[in-house]
Amino acid sequence: MMMIIILDSTFLFYQGDTLRRETFDQDLAETAKTLALIFKKSSGKKLHNIDENSIKLLLSNPHDEMFYSIRDDKGQFLYGNKDVQYKPSSEDLDPNNPKDFNVYFDTVNNKDVRVVSIPTEHSINKINKKFFVQVAETRNQRQAIQYQILIMIVIPQVILLLFALILVRFAVKKGLSPILFLNEKIIARSYKDLTPINIQNVPLEIERLVTSLNNLIAELNNAIQSENRFVNDAAHQLRTPLAGILAQIQLAQDSLDTKEIHRRLEQINQSSKRLIHIINQLLSLSKTQPEALHHSEFLKMDLVKLTKKTMEDLFSFADKKQIDFGYIGDLENIFILGNEEKLYDLVHNLLENAIKYTPNLGQVSVSIKRQENQVVLMVEDSGKGIPKDDQSMIFDRFFRGNNVNQSGDDAGAGIGLAIVKEIAAMHEATIEIDSRNEKVGTRFYVYFNLAAPE
Ligand SMILES: Nc1ncnc2c1ncn2[C@@H]1O[C@H](COP(=O)(O)OP(=O)(O)O)[C@@H](O)[C@H]1O
Ligand SMILES: [Mg+2]
Repeated sequence: MMMIIILDSTFLFYQGDTLRRETFDQDLAETAKTLALIFKKSSGKKLHNIDENSIKLLLSNPHDEMFYSIRDDKGQFLYGNKDVQYKPSSEDLDPNNPKDFNVYFDTVNNKDVRVVSIPTEHSINKINKKFFVQVAETRNQRQAIQYQILIMIVIPQVILLLFALILVRFAVKKGLSPILFLNEKIIARSYKDLTPINIQNVPLEIERLVTSLNNLIAELNNAIQSENRFVNDAAHQLRTPLAGILAQIQLAQDSLDTKEIHRRLEQINQSSKRLIHIINQLLSLSKTQPEALHHSEFLKMDLVKLTKKTMEDLFSFADKKQIDFGYIGDLENIFILGNEEKLYDLVHNLLENAIKYTPNLGQVSVSIKRQENQVVLMVEDSGKGIPKDDQSMIFDRFFRGNNVNQSGDDAGAGIGLAIVKEIAAMHEATIEIDSRNEKVGTRFYVYFNLAAPE
């Protein structure tokens, strides 16, 4: 901005000043010509007959002092003021061309002057000769006008600049003030304060920014609260078996009966196993958090093979309860994109629940079917069923239904289905529960996307 104004002013000033100089020089040249005329008229016989009065009249000027000199064709002084020098022109000047004159700066009586020198032909005593007539003028008026031009051009430009600067500053300040205000509010905030930012009467764009920020804060708040709840619940889950272990140890220490001690140790063993199971579940859940998602690799894998392998690992558990546990369906293999380790956990948790919540001598069956572009895994049991009211909550962390015993064989931490849900989401799979008769049997369906053929 400043640059433009400086360039613009300089250009305007240069233009104005050139015009001024040319006009003044032209005027001075006219005076020189008139003087040459007076000189020619009055000194036909003798140089000293020159009409001094006319010259004085011609050179009288209210603003500036004027001087003149008449010099011969070699520049030697003849008449007028000795100080007014002749400087030869770079070109040959034609005395008959009124536009031909030489102009230069000089000093006369220690004053800065502008000098115009013109050639003229004249005969004194019938001897025709070439003379140079110089008229010098101090530069008061020239400078005064130069200042005027400067003032006329530069001052308005400077005012314009200042005005523009103030305007821009004002506009920027007004435009930025909500942002600065918002910034101050954010700086003043404690990291613990997750309430929405309240900022009113702001432009629409800022309002959007604040809304987005508030949404982010709300999500953060939810995430933090859920983490806190998780830690709290997890601690709770670990505390119960640990307290059991401590109590058993105390009882064993107080007892002298080896059989009793043996029994206590066996209980400690059971509780420790349960503790390890819970810890493993917790670790598995933390590994299936969304932020862990990028680290897991998704490969094309056979879901039938994986399911059968998982079932093998649970045969002994089903056997203990004499449960009829089998794979039904005739698909030899079917491919989906997934992470094998995670999918093992998903199938394992569903099967474990089915076996756990089915009474002895019951049935648990697994099938895999293709449905258009989807692969459906179904786990069916003839167990307790899930009450309608519980169905919406069973996937929540640490939720345990009223249909199951809170201790003994049914004991669990309520994490299994939360893991299943996370892993399914990770694979963009959906889950459905079918527990039509809420008391007898449950079916879990998991719908995967079929892997694209190569
Ligand atoms: N196959 C099933 N039959 C009946 N209830 C089930 C079944 N699977 C899950 N549930 C219910 O869902 C709840 C949550 O299951 P889960 O998250 O695996 O935790 P846990 O098995 O440790 O209780 C269980 O407590 C139970 O009430
Ligand atoms: Mg479970």
